[in-house]
Amino acid sequence: MKVAGVQRSFPVGGSTLQVLKGIDMEVPERQLVMLKGRSGSGKTTLLNMLGGLDQPTAGEIWFLDQPLHGWNDAKRTELRRKQIGFIFQAYALLPLLSARENVELSLRMAGVPSAEWKSRVAYCLELVGLGKRMDHRPGELSGGEQQRVAIAKAIAHRPRLLLADEPTANLDSQMGAQVMAVFRSIIETEGMTICMTTHDPTILEVADHVYEMVDGRFV
Ligand SMILES: Nc1ncnc2c1ncn2[C@@H]1O[C@H](COP(=O)(O)OP(=O)(O)OP(=O)(O)O)[C@@H](O)[C@H]1O
Ligand SMILES: [Mg+2]
Repeated sequence: MKVAGVQRSFPVGGSTLQVLKGIDMEVPERQLVMLKGRSGSGKTTLLNMLGGLDQPTAGEIWFLDQPLHGWNDAKRTELRRKQIGFIFQAYALLPLLSARENVELSLRMAGVPSAEWKSRVAYCLELVGLGKRMDHRPGELSGGEQQRVAIAKAIAHRPRLLLADEPTANLDSQMGAQVMAVFRSIIETEGMTICMTTHDPTILEVADHVYEMVDGRFV
């Protein structure tokens, strides 16, 4: 993924709030790239645009040599379902579905043949240490366990790019390290590329590259 001169501003009240002020970055294939920066610096705003959830006010975003910044909603949604995995700051699990069914949903949305669902879901939930919790609903799981289901859900359809907003925020340091080991192993075994945000200095050490955001710019 290549980002050039990306700006994003929002209309607030009668004026315009400039949140991203010209971002240039590169997320090379099979790398783990991290964004750090203070609360409100613009990390989530940028991640949303990398995943095609939002569009820049100015600038370009290229994904696999395709101009994401010029695409309409429908085309970006299609790309997201198949090629991108998302882990949001608040885990987006459906409360009435079990862990297994939540993960299965992303396979269904990506058009993966149903014959492959069972083994892939089990594999992904085992990868995050939840093989024994597959039939629990989110309300029957701890916060950290829910976060790990969200991770399994985000990688199940083998996206080319995984975008993760503070994926270890609610985990203890041991589980955080385990999640980072999972990330490392899916980069190796599945050729995935990961871009994530974090505040945790011990986790930043695992990155191939760290970008620091200060007030809408990289420093
Ligand atoms: N839709 C919006 N309309 C107006 N302002 C917004 C909007 N989205 C974000 N902002 C503002 O942009 C700034 C950056 O927000 P963002 O969520 O990207 O920060 P962040 O770096 O992810 O922070 P945190 O570490 O707390 O998650 C904030 O000041 C926020 O209020
Ligand atoms: Mg954020």
